[in-house]
Amino acid sequence: MNNYTKDLESTIATLSAKGKGILAADESAGTITKRFEALHISSTEDTRRAYRELLATTPGISEYIAGIILYEETLNQKASNGQLFPELLKKLGILPGIKVDKGLVLIPNTAEEQTTQGLDGLNERLAEYKAKGACFAKWRAVYHISNNTPTALALRANAEGLATYAALCQANGIVPIVEPEILIDGDHTIERCSEVTESVLHSVFHALHKHKVKLEWTILKPSMVIHGNKSTTKTTAEQVGKATVTILRRTVPAAIPTINFLSGGQTPEDATANLNAMNVLPGNPWNLSYSYARALQDYCMKTWKGDAKNVAAAQKVFLERAKLNSLASVGKYKASMETETTTA
Ligand code: 13P
Repeated sequence: MNNYTKDLESTIATLSAKGKGILAADESAGTITKRFEALHISSTEDTRRAYRELLATTPGISEYIAGIILYEETLNQKASNGQLFPELLKKLGILPGIKVDKGLVLIPNTAEEQTTQGLDGLNERLAEYKAKGACFAKWRAVYHISNNTPTALALRANAEGLATYAALCQANGIVPIVEPEILIDGDHTIERCSEVTESVLHSVFHALHKHKVKLEWTILKPSMVIHGNKSTTKTTAEQVGKATVTILRRTVPAAIPTINFLSGGQTPEDATANLNAMNVLPGNPWNLSYSYARALQDYCMKTWKGDAKNVAAAQKVFLERAKLNSLASVGKYKASMETETTTA
């Protein structure tokens, strides 16, 4: 019996509510600096705070966003009204989450495959994040597709990391988001992506089982089954939706309450259309929703431009994008709903 059963049950119920998703706003300082600099926005502790506050305080956003994944810097920051971010989010009806991995490292003696760091001291950090109000956490593992990768070694190392992390989260009353991301980079076909996704998810669920992770309190955050971004054969939303659901059905137990996809470099419109295509298929045992970073934020950040006078316009764009994804999570999105506001 877990002392935190009530907390875990309540968090997972909130995060898997129909028509809602998760916002990933947990870019590391390095990643958000790159995104800001591409738009000539200066990246300081304060501009990062202002931007994340803009997202969280968007009027009406809690209708579409049940939780926000924060980077550690934001978890410890105060919004302009003096409230700490976790407290602010809870008041707004949004659960605070936290990215707990410490990034990627090369696996020696492989063709540049990677695994994720951050297990040392994780138990203590999770207890601290829980005390600061975090209800859920995220750990990202990545896999590269080529003719001979991912290797069995990369599959095993990453599955072990994800499962060890997930078990520690649950022991600390935190719902784990398990994120195995198969990178979109490359010229692979959708068929090759299907094959790799099946192996990856199979290895991840095998490890979760070995570590006795309770699937009922776990969120899966996978990439979609899609052609590589340099592939000459493009696939339609219907093909992506069908291929993704086919692989999920083969590998993901129905005990997982919600699957919240990453957008992985797809355009915002594609990420929405592809999610919708999965949700028009009948008989899915899990909630299929979003946990996007770029696909939810891109147009909003471009509208904001780091200027306080653009906050209201940027929030409007963000709200619209979140609403379209919410519709996609219940199979009610249509491409004709895209307007100039949503694609600013
Ligand atoms: P993207 O939606 O931009 O892929 O980001 C999701 C995420 O959280 C990556 O870890």
